[in-house]
Amino acid sequence: MEDGSPKETSSYLKAVRDQYEAYPYPPRNPTDEKVRLENSWHDFLELINFYCFNGRSNFSQEFRVLVAGGGTGDQTIFLGEQLRYNRRAEVVHLDISEKCNEIARRRAEVRKLANITWVHGSVLDLPSLKLGPFDYINCVGVLHHMDDPRAGLQALRSVLKDDGAMSIMLYGKYGRTGVYQLQELLRRINLDATDLQAKLANTKIVLDSLPRTNWFKRSEDIIGDHKEFGDAGIVDLLLHAQDRPFTVDELYDLVEGCGLHVIELIERGRSKYKVESYIRDKRILDRVSALPRRQQQAIAELIAGDMIVHNFYVARRADTVASLEDLRNVPFYFLDPPRNVLELIDRNPGRSVKVSSTLYAATVEFVPGLYTRNLFKYLDGEHSLKEIFEQIRRDHGKTEQQLSNDELLNEFRPIYQQFNDLGWMLLRHRSVGKFRSLTEMQMPV
Ligand SMILES: C[S@@+](CC[C@H](N)C(=O)[O-])C[C@H]1O[C@@H](n2cnc3c(N)ncnc32)[C@H](O)[C@@H]1O
Repeated sequence: MEDGSPKETSSYLKAVRDQYEAYPYPPRNPTDEKVRLENSWHDFLELINFYCFNGRSNFSQEFRVLVAGGGTGDQTIFLGEQLRYNRRAEVVHLDISEKCNEIARRRAEVRKLANITWVHGSVLDLPSLKLGPFDYINCVGVLHHMDDPRAGLQALRSVLKDDGAMSIMLYGKYGRTGVYQLQELLRRINLDATDLQAKLANTKIVLDSLPRTNWFKRSEDIIGDHKEFGDAGIVDLLLHAQDRPFTVDELYDLVEGCGLHVIELIERGRSKYKVESYIRDKRILDRVSALPRRQQQAIAELIAGDMIVHNFYVARRADTVASLEDLRNVPFYFLDPPRNVLELIDRNPGRSVKVSSTLYAATVEFVPGLYTRNLFKYLDGEHSLKEIFEQIRRDHGKTEQQLSNDELLNEFRPIYQQFNDLGWMLLRHRSVGKFRSLTEMQMPV
């Protein structure tokens, strides 16, 4: 393990480090690696490729990853596992807590992952640690625990390649309203408590006695760390030494203030951040839809009320998302291929078709056009849009003049958009092969 000799006074709060030494978060048992692979949604290579690399990265060239504030290793292990067979890939795990690093390292040992470098150090020291530059940086649940999140993001930016990208998670302000009320209550109750143990004991008593009217109690359907992760969960959620949440507007200010672009805010897909998901009235929707994306997303946050975190990708460039207009791209279902689309189309010719997914907790509804059945027939995750369109023309005995790519694309676009908004359908360039499946990676090592 490399020692980045974190400079206590300048680069992090001692209380934050002490907390994660005493209560590594999230608590993980390394031997569980033998039976399951934790996945962190935003670190699936398919998603990173779609959102951050125009669908063109096959991750088989040099690919350097930094997991900043990697904690007990969820993201590090998942990325390391996905990149296991790329000899030119490297994952650097950085954390100020030695205890967290130790747990993460033992997880990697159980999985026999040899592509991870372990660094004990602070994000704020990155400019001088000489670890970069990186193609992809993951920083989940860390910047909001810093005295100066902007300095943290600047430090990350300083080691990001020009065409690299980051995945960041910050706490959401409105969704955590009840958390901050309870933190305030606990600060008052814990005034005399001398250490974290004593505070924890008081907190458990308070948690057991909250009335149903309490805001934290009311939000227990969306916040569960205190139940799922025991003492470590309670400490991280309610007794944190430093914790500040962000609204959509505040996170844009932070990112843009550092000279970066928000590529996309996603919660599986982007539907959660789209005003269309909530507003039905056409007049109001027309007005709101005319606003810049950032303002629309801020409105979606205010309507939804339950965004406890914001997950988003950022980059220096603004144009990093794979485009449906590039016919060399291959459309594919992400994680949950529906088996019955053709059957549904055949069952009700010319009528509306509803395709549902339990994983995405959503339904896509469309009225099939003349060529929709064929589009779905050839959508196999192997063939590009160009190849699919050519096959449809052959089936119908038509030339490109008689049935243009534009006509086919116009029929497919609104259907793709619905699937893609949910995160259920993505694109990757034809030159990029399929990625390892979750099932393959979950196999015991
Ligand atoms: C809430 S945990 C998140 C861990 C991991 N990213 C995850 O999502 O599972 C926050 C982690 O950030 C680390 N951390 C906090 N401030 C840091 C800093 N300045 N530099 C490096 N790590 C830091 C803590 O030690 C802790 O492990």
